Amino acid sequence: MLLEEIKKRKSVRSYSEEKISDETLNEILEAGRLAPSWVNVQPWKFIVIRDEKTKELLYKASGEQKQVLGANVIIACVADMEAWEKKNFGAVLEKSGKNQMVQDYILNSPTLNPSLLGNVEMLTRTIEQLTYAVAYMSIQAEKSGVGCCIIGALANEMTKGDENIIKELKEQLNLNDKQILLTLLTLGYEKTPKETNKIRKEPAEVIFYEKLS
Ligand SMILES: Cc1cc2nc3c(=O)[nH]c(=O)nc-3n(C[C@H](O)[C@H](O)[C@H](O)COP(=O)(O)O)c2cc1C
Repeated sequence: MLLEEIKKRKSVRSYSEEKISDETLNEILEAGRLAPSWVNVQPWKFIVIRDEKTKELLYKASGEQKQVLGANVIIACVADMEAWEKKNFGAVLEKSGKNQMVQDYILNSPTLNPSLLGNVEMLTRTIEQLTYAVAYMSIQAEKSGVGCCIIGALANEMTKGDENIIKELKEQLNLNDKQILLTLLTLGYEKTPKETNKIRKEPAEVIFYEKLS
């Protein structure tokens, strides 16, 4: 069943005027919220953008990608490094029913808590987690019949884009130094429905058994 959505999903960059209902949007957001993550740390925040002024700012930040301006709704996906802080990470572990000894073990283990290793390691792991949430939301969008484009080409601390735009955007979205706007999901109903054309490497190029050949 799910493979059908995966096969049909494609990047949709042109949207009709039709609005996405709150119910449908909530299904997509729920898919992200429920995504798996490293020791369940969930280092993400999703900001729903409908405001035209904010869309314009995001459009500028994306190098004027038209699907950003044309989207009915944008989900701004924030990599939240604050989630690794002891009080936040510990609270999630507590909620998961881990006793104090296990919590301390995880929080003090450089393998399980990448924030102990440094900013690069922490950021890399945070992006890894966010990717699952973005993937889940994009597949749920397909299932809900909503067109979606993942936007990664965006001015932020990772891409070292225009500093003024980054600053303006961070202020507008109320992000702090430990929160990076990493990805946008532009959402809307496809203007002119087209067949999906999957251009991918062949199975023999990417799938191997037991070892690479
Ligand atoms: C992390 C990531 C970032 C992407 N960034 C952009 C982007 O900035 N602009 C864009 O038009 N498409 C972007 N895409 C969409 C890819 O170009 C697209 O998924 C790929 O070409 C395969 O096409 P398909 O999605 O139609 O199967 C991005 C996809 C991913 C996974």
